Amino acid sequence: MLKITSCVLDKVCGLNSKIPRHMFDEYVLCGRSNVGKSSFINTICNRKNYAHTSKTPGKTRTINYYLINDKFYLVDLPGYGFAKASAKEQNDWATFINEYFKKSESIEEIIMLVDIRHEPTKDDKSMFEWILNTTGFEPIVIATKSDKIKKTEIKKNVDIIRKELNGSEALTVIPFSSETKDGLDNVMRLLFEK
Ligand code: GTP
Ligand code: MG
Repeated sequence: MLKITSCVLDKVCGLNSKIPRHMFDEYVLCGRSNVGKSSFINTICNRKNYAHTSKTPGKTRTINYYLINDKFYLVDLPGYGFAKASAKEQNDWATFINEYFKKSESIEEIIMLVDIRHEPTKDDKSMFEWILNTTGFEPIVIATKSDKIKKTEIKKNVDIIRKELNGSEALTVIPFSSETKDGLDNVMRLLFEK
């Protein structure tokens, strides 16, 4: 199994930056604000708070490129659906994220995080569909915060997520918790061992 031995924040891209060109594959993380993208990076890299996390949605406001094992990038995107941002700000970010997906030439995998407790939101559904149509990649789905529901509810909720996102038969949905590391082995196997 892939063992992550180094994780270095290598590039940071703000609203006015150009999407960088480089020679590494990119594993991109997207999902609603506060769903646990930065926590996911910390968990799989076995770090405490290297990728900054916050109880308040809207923490990550840049595109952050984490170089893993000097081999590939994990790309942490700002979350969408952040209600407290102004309409203009949300719009600017949506445009920037869209530009990222259109311009990046080295996407290897798109990882979409959704909260296992809830049905996918309207934003989740449109993002999923938009990614599929724009990039041709069907995202791998990580259902986060699995520690917050009963073990017996996990399968039911995963099935709802799968149905609501309306993906292919082969769509992968992995229950995951940054709190308990539930699902970590599956993530390492299914994401990085192709
Ligand atoms: P933005 O940067 O705003 O887009 O958010 P994000 O998706 O990066 O979320 P972040 O990782 O900052 O996590 C948001 C909050 O959820 C923090 O308080 C985390 O501690 C909490 N959290 C993340 N993952 C889990 C999880 O698996 N279980 C539990 N119980 N809490 C989690
Ligand atoms: Mg974040």
